[in-house]
Amino acid sequence: MIKTVLTVNPNNEIGTIAPEIYGHFSEHLGRCIYEGIFVGRDSDIPNTNGIRNDVVDALKAVRLPVLRWPGGCFADEYHWKDGIGPLEERRRMVNTNWGGVVEDNSFGTHEFLDLCEQIGCEPYISVNVGSGTVQEAAEWIEYMTAPGESTFSKLREKNGRKEPWKVKYIGIGNENWGCGGSMEPQYYASEYKKYQQFCKDYGDNHLYKIACGPSADDYNWTRELLSHVNKWHTKAISLHYYTIPYDWEHKGSATDFNEKDYYVTLRGTRYIEEIIDKHLAIMDELDKEHEISLIVDEWGTWYDVEPGTNPGFLFQQNTMRDALVASINLNIFNSRCTRIAMANIAQVVNVLQAMILTEGAKIVKTPTYEVFDMYKEHQGARLVESAVFNSETGTDEVRIPALSQSASIKEQNGVKVLTLTVSNASLTDEAEIEIALPEGFVFDGEAAVSVLTGDMHDCNTFEEPDKVKQTRRSENWSGRTHTLTVPACGIVSASCKVK
Ligand code: AHR
Repeated sequence: MIKTVLTVNPNNEIGTIAPEIYGHFSEHLGRCIYEGIFVGRDSDIPNTNGIRNDVVDALKAVRLPVLRWPGGCFADEYHWKDGIGPLEERRRMVNTNWGGVVEDNSFGTHEFLDLCEQIGCEPYISVNVGSGTVQEAAEWIEYMTAPGESTFSKLREKNGRKEPWKVKYIGIGNENWGCGGSMEPQYYASEYKKYQQFCKDYGDNHLYKIACGPSADDYNWTRELLSHVNKWHTKAISLHYYTIPYDWEHKGSATDFNEKDYYVTLRGTRYIEEIIDKHLAIMDELDKEHEISLIVDEWGTWYDVEPGTNPGFLFQQNTMRDALVASINLNIFNSRCTRIAMANIAQVVNVLQAMILTEGAKIVKTPTYEVFDMYKEHQGARLVESAVFNSETGTDEVRIPALSQSASIKEQNGVKVLTLTVSNASLTDEAEIEIALPEGFVFDGEAAVSVLTGDMHDCNTFEEPDKVKQTRRSENWSGRTHTLTVPACGIVSASCKVK
């Protein structure tokens, strides 16, 4: 048994947790877009304009705030004009990055922006730098956002949409150090500046421009990029970091793993904390006023694909191990909310650490989905100071901190509601945690408590879709302290009024 104290200080508000930290990523990769999200108007699967109703409902329920599209590596070979106009005239291209399948472009700009409207989220568009042109990018922005009578707004109208869309987030290229063109940072920075210059604000649409930042611990990329771009043309730079248990050649199975693999995975995911802090230290040096934010626009676990599936489709199962990964990452992002403006887990449906898996008309919400649901009260809340006296867990070979936590406050009509999320990585010991408020504060009434736990291998399948589900209960909390039990391999969220 782990016995410890978690102090929470509602007096010390650190910053607002951007809802976009709970963002998502959707790429033309495997069965993410096609089958997972888009089934076409003629499908027997209930849909609205070809978009699955069950998936939209599930994503609305977790208040998905922002969705990135069309990639990923796919973005730098995507030509947006291929994906507009009559379906039968759309170009059929080969998706060279992902399985060599034919992409018929039936899901394009209109379909994606319709999806965002159905979910009620912000779109985040990744424009093609690697194999595109500045003119193509500029025209795409005009097509989506310009009011009035321009050639591209008329073309949009001809294709069925008179009103311009609001598009805030644009990423200029994706992984331009790799699949997006194998560029040197200085070269990319020049390209970035040129592209962003011609991506304009139309009407009352204001672009939030994101430059391609580093891969994992490539600190040189951040230093070079930040030496060339500034707040006048860059709101944020992106970071990509995947949790791969060992290395790219030894990723291991998503479901068949042992205790050591479990702890190695969680140790790997915790490495993002060091990576983020080192990139932020460089950004602090070169952007002293903190005018450029960090966006973790791809993160999550990456294992071997499920046996028998297309290796180019990156389809993997999702267990309690992934739930712990999600919870640890979200706590890390929350704790740096003054510098992290957005984070997008990869990917939303059927790819890598997915929220949702589909098979025909069937849908499964993964343990990772449960975590996003349990954490949703943090969106837009004020992060407050919290500290836990942590203990180590693991095997003899692999030691990691057992606990991870966030605390935030939302105030409505003068009432403060504290939300706590705590995860316990230990596979053997439950944690009995005394939550302590400072003098002058008390818990005030009913607390809504959710618990997610199970064996590390537990996952939701099409045969058993509800094996891993949060259990909800309400408790009466009063006084300055309350003892919360977090099961081994478990996550707890609790919201309670404080005064
Ligand atoms: O998410 C899968 C791929 O991982 C993305 O296409 C790419 O950006 C990253 O390397």
